[in-house]
Amino acid sequence: MLDHLKAKNRAWAERKLSADPGFFKRLITQQAPQYLWIGCSDSRVPANEIVDLDPGELFVHRNVANLAPPQDANYLSVLQFAVDVLKVKHIMVVGHYGCGGIAAAVDGKRRGLVDHWLHPIREIYGENRAALDATPDSETRLNRLCELNVIRQVKNVASDVFVQDAWARGQDIWVHGWVYSVANGILRDLEVTAGRPDFR
Ligand code: CO
Repeated sequence: MLDHLKAKNRAWAERKLSADPGFFKRLITQQAPQYLWIGCSDSRVPANEIVDLDPGELFVHRNVANLAPPQDANYLSVLQFAVDVLKVKHIMVVGHYGCGGIAAAVDGKRRGLVDHWLHPIREIYGENRAALDATPDSETRLNRLCELNVIRQVKNVASDVFVQDAWARGQDIWVHGWVYSVANGILRDLEVTAGRPDFR
């Protein structure tokens, strides 16, 4: 089954090898990415491809609506490994306009477990209700909520004890908030970058 994917994989590996015969050999011994990407699971937002990075260059964590919840063992394990072991220099939280997770969080329909997962987005909506409800159309409102969610997750990452302790040890880490447009392929920096307190 899925022979077409296996064939595509072999062709991809051959292309990589013909461009750079040592490509896979170098990756066997170590991964040393400088970046941790925390993004949405959406299939239209493939992390490596968007920033044109090769295997070995980007450590990736993806979940529905790019959340960084301080009680989620999966995200925390990735964050600690990235900060303490890989010693990444940059962590980017990357949302995207038209995010189905953001829309599902606030449309009032019940879907099951994901309603609990998306709870933090409803909180953000509640806290910004006046400004969001004043937005004339729902697309603009949801896109603004995508941005507010990214800003909140940047705060979560930057205030996490793993990151705080790394900063206290003098480690150089920057936490960025970006939003990706599925419509044109362009990343937008929300300019909410957090760095080591004495660097700012
Ligand atoms: Co999404």
